[in-house]
Amino acid sequence: MARDFASNSASLGSHSHEELSRRINELKKEMNALVLAHYYTVPEIQQVADIVGDSLALARAAEKNDADVIVFAGVYFMAETAKILNPSKLVLMPDAFAGCPLADSCPAEEFKRFKEQFPEAIVITYINSTAEIKALSDITCTSSNAEQIIRQIPAGQKIIFGPDRNLGGYIARKLGREMILWPGFCYVHDAFSEPFILKACAEHPDAELIAHPECREEVLRHAAFTGSTQALLQYTVSSSAKKFIVATEPGILYEMQRRSPEKTFIPAPRDPDNPRSVCTQMKQNTLEKLYQCMLDRKPAIVIDETLRLASLGSIRRMLEMS
Ligand code: 13P
Ligand code: SF4
Repeated sequence: MARDFASNSASLGSHSHEELSRRINELKKEMNALVLAHYYTVPEIQQVADIVGDSLALARAAEKNDADVIVFAGVYFMAETAKILNPSKLVLMPDAFAGCPLADSCPAEEFKRFKEQFPEAIVITYINSTAEIKALSDITCTSSNAEQIIRQIPAGQKIIFGPDRNLGGYIARKLGREMILWPGFCYVHDAFSEPFILKACAEHPDAELIAHPECREEVLRHAAFTGSTQALLQYTVSSSAKKFIVATEPGILYEMQRRSPEKTFIPAPRDPDNPRSVCTQMKQNTLEKLYQCMLDRKPAIVIDETLRLASLGSIRRMLEMS
């Protein structure tokens, strides 16, 4: 489906972050708005948000709240999921064009043909997917609950997993289950490679490597801990280690450092010339755009009702199973 937005383009000028945050907080009250932000957004967005979380925490927050307006500082599939769960609410996005290349790498027509090759398989898809893909799926999952959900699928039941081959491969190896994988990947996590990770580990022998399951197997095999963004954060709080090499999007380092100011966090290198592997789409969310979208009440997510109902089942199943 083409993205259907009433978009804004006005520029706000140069207000300070403090002033913008103050105005955003006023608008939140006036509009009865809830601001949700992913851990990969910039710190000033995380500071003004009502809830900061990973994909699962934000989907849950979008499901259960009394707000009239949800403002989603993340990427498109996240705001779309919030709209699917809340058809009567206004769901806003600071930047209408902050998409997820992983989600966009799995076109519905191709996925349908892929699925038709395995008619007996159950289809489990990562939440990083379009509504059309969710409508073709039996169960949605996030990196937080993928393992828990797949453990509930009877042994012997064929599973198609998409669109992230690295997350799917990680769960398949961990559970010793064969899964049919769609060959998609997240360009941010897939960019980490073994030689540079090993070099960083050699340079910081006192640090623990922790990694998101969207990373490749050659990286995950060296990690002391693998988990979703939320799980990595919790691990850094509870671990006795004092130093971590973090193989995920570096936006999470803000909250890691905030929770454990005495510990050291090193973003895992992508290569020597490009030390940070950043999600440019998440960084499209700025405080200015957040304020402007609340002022304008747009861009708002619009979804066709037939598609919404078709995709709702797989999201509801995820929320029930985890
Ligand atoms: P989680 O939020 O589930 O850790 O996923 C990471 C991600 O890449 C979100 O787009
Ligand atoms: Fe998509 Fe990767 Fe960015 Fe997450 S980090 S939004 S999966 S491109």
